[in-house]
Formats: sequence, C-alpha cells, structure tokens
Amino acid sequence: MRSPSDRLAKTLISEEKLQERVAELADQINSDFKNSNLIVVGLLTGTIIFLADLVRKIDLPLRLDFIGVSSYRNNTESSKLVFTKELNIDVKDQDVLIVDDILDTGKTLKSVIDKINTMHPRKISTCVLLSKKARREYITPADYVGFEIPNEFAVGYGLDYAEHFRNLPFIGALNN
Ligand code: IMP
Ligand code: MG
Repeated sequence: MRSPSDRLAKTLISEEKLQERVAELADQINSDFKNSNLIVVGLLTGTIIFLADLVRKIDLPLRLDFIGVSSYRNNTESSKLVFTKELNIDVKDQDVLIVDDILDTGKTLKSVIDKINTMHPRKISTCVLLSKKARREYITPADYVGFEIPNEFAVGYGLDYAEHFRNLPFIGALNN
C-alpha cells in the first residue's frame, strides 16, 4: 500500500509564512474587537492547529467554543451537512468570531452563520485561513482571510485528505 505522503505534490505555504500571516490576522482582530465580549467559535476538525496558534496571539479576554459540522457526499455529488457538535456557550448578544480552515464553495460557513444567527448574537464575524475564490457557489463573507489559494486540494496545518495530513506544519497540495 502506498503511504499517504506519496500523494503530496508540493508546498503551497511554508511554516514561516503561516506563522507570519497568523500574527497579522491576530493583530487585526486585536484592534477590531477591543471592547467586545468575544466568543471564538472554531469549526471542527480542520481548524484546530490554526486556531491554537491564532488564539494565543489574541490579546483580549475571549471564550472559546467549537461547532462540529461534517458533509457527507453521496455518489450524485450532492452533499448534506450534518452538525456533529453543538455550541456549549450561549452566544446571545455576544460578538462571535467564526473560524474555519478553508472557504471553498462557501456552503459550510454559510450554514454555520445561518445556524448561529438563530441564536441572536450581537454580531457575527468570520475568519478563514484559506480561500479558494474560484470555487465559490454561496455568497459567504469572510472578514479575515489568511491566504487566497489556487484551485488545488490543500492539506496540512489542520486540513486533511481522508483524515490524513492534519499534522503537517505547512500547507501542501495533493497530486491529482
Ligand atoms: P465548502 O462548504 O465547500 O466551503 O467546504 C468547506 C469545507 O470543505 C472545509 O471546512 C474543509 O473541511 C473542506 N475542504 C474544502 N476544500 C478543501 C481542501 O482543499 N483541503 C481540505 N479540505 C477542504
Ligand atoms: Mg474540514
């Protein structure tokens, strides 16, 4: 059996570039949320490494929660989103910053925004590490974007292919 690493074609974003950009995003967040009751909501599982680096650079009182969402694709290519973990913290009248690993079609982030909106937060903002603009199908605003990337399958720094590669310290692209 071939090892998953045989499928790694190249590095898209180095560890140094990731750390540099995460620090810039945190600086922006620090100045934008100075006087708010910030709740950071991470989408499981792809966001965990990015989020761990990001929140340690945010110099504000904040609370951290996670929401679980998975898409199950069937052979007709349509996919159904299923929530696998609900929020524990009450977000009513609070400022919520949703953090995701990658904005692709926009379906996932849009459904999470719609769901959290029903909980009456004061304001929802969104932060994604990566964005593939070429693939967007749903109008989904991202207030903070780490990197725009080409239409390739990205892995590493939390992002997976069939649950592999999450532990890479950089972002790589897979072979087709
Ligand atoms: P969307 O709903 O189409 O925007 O897809 C978003 C989700 O699909 C992300 O949270 C990822 O879990 C996954 N995804 C989309 N593109 C990639 C990729 O290039 N690498 C790894 N996961 C991806
Ligand atoms: Mg994911």
